[in-house]
Amino acid sequence: MILVTGGAGFIGANFVLQWIEDAQTPVVNLDKLTYAGNLNNLASLEHETRHHFIQGDILNKSLLEEVLAKYKPQAIVHFAAETHVDRSIYHPHDFFQTNVMGTQVLLDSALAYWKHLGRSEQNSFRFLHVSTDEVYGSIGPNEAPTKESSPYAPNSPYAASKAASDYAVRSYFHTYGLPVLTTHSSNNFGPYQFPEKLLPLMIVKALQRKPLPLYGDGLNIRSWIYVSDHCEALRLILAKGKPGETYNIADQEEHTNKEIVLDLCSILDEFKGSSSEAPFASLIKYVKDRPGHDRRYSIDASKLHKEIGWKPRKSFKENLRYTVQWYLENLQWVENVISGEYRDWITTNYYDRETIP
Ligand code: NAD
Ligand code: DAU
Repeated sequence: MILVTGGAGFIGANFVLQWIEDAQTPVVNLDKLTYAGNLNNLASLEHETRHHFIQGDILNKSLLEEVLAKYKPQAIVHFAAETHVDRSIYHPHDFFQTNVMGTQVLLDSALAYWKHLGRSEQNSFRFLHVSTDEVYGSIGPNEAPTKESSPYAPNSPYAASKAASDYAVRSYFHTYGLPVLTTHSSNNFGPYQFPEKLLPLMIVKALQRKPLPLYGDGLNIRSWIYVSDHCEALRLILAKGKPGETYNIADQEEHTNKEIVLDLCSILDEFKGSSSEAPFASLIKYVKDRPGHDRRYSIDASKLHKEIGWKPRKSFKENLRYTVQWYLENLQWVENVISGEYRDWITTNYYDRETIP
């Protein structure tokens, strides 16, 4: 049995689906079901006896104690977090509350549980903390990709809250000996991503023939990883990672936002275009930038390749194509998530972003 937190969100749900498909041990999935948590992501597990879903908050210590005592997991894979940088600019408190305090409460509960395990179970237990490349901050155009040893320089409230949680995790290893692992992944994309993030947002807007809002000059760079590749890396790290260590997880794909959206538009032209309508790229609009927008992320994942033996399965282009196809084939899923809360968010984030000519 493993305990997954945040397993109804984008990466967490992909992880749980992959884990169950590969017929590994059962999963208990604890998720608060915030706006980003969605049980439709796990609909295919409705009759799956190896999946136990519990709606709950990682800040709820007594619930955590109960869950740990009942299910006796051999590992905790911690995804639960507030994750959207733009939202963190409007509501930083929620980010520090869940990402920092929530992680600390989870660590405390995990430690109390771990202390009462037998020696061999203690040795094999793992607390895997899923973090981000954003903790390293922005790097210059010619700078080498960040390594695990690079200094932290978080710039958004989201990144700062994740950095603080990483330090909390580190301290439970050094102070109490809890066998922790921390990962820093780059930008994920793929099925079940909530359409507040760049790729699904652009797909949803393009299908509605609405403007595609690129922040600033559209030349900010992100490094991209397909979500199931990320999940495979996490599973390998869980099995082979060394307690106390941190691992970067990234494909070698670096692209400007403009390149990504142009690629997306050509795929949509191919799947949906008709000669009577303008190409999707004509919908691109440059809008007011995100405050404190990090210019470039690029991370060096050579430690993961060498020590853990991970590599991505397919090319970025193939995965992007499949992702667009997935959204086109799952319009009902999209309809269900673009509810009232989603529309309120779109108004909040985009209404005063005047277009930059
Ligand atoms: P997401 O926003 O899609 O999902 C987050 C999930 O956490 C949701 O299901 C939500 O209901 C749950 N949750 C939030 N607060 C909770 C709480 N207090 N208690 C219990 N559950 C709670 O996020 P995601 O994109 O799947 O990211 C998952 C993890 O991976 C996060 O820790 C994030 O920082 C990290 N990460 C994400 C990316 C990315 O590109 N999406 C990249 C690197 C790291
Ligand atoms: O790098 C890993 C991080 O990637 C994760 O830790 C975060 O949880 C995840 O949200 C993501 O953060 P980003 O801020 O990079 O992702 P987002 O999809 O919001 O934006 C990607 C880029 O696209 C970024 O440079 C901002 C830009 N963008 C985004 C939106 C939503 C736009 O140009 N227009 C938009 O409307």
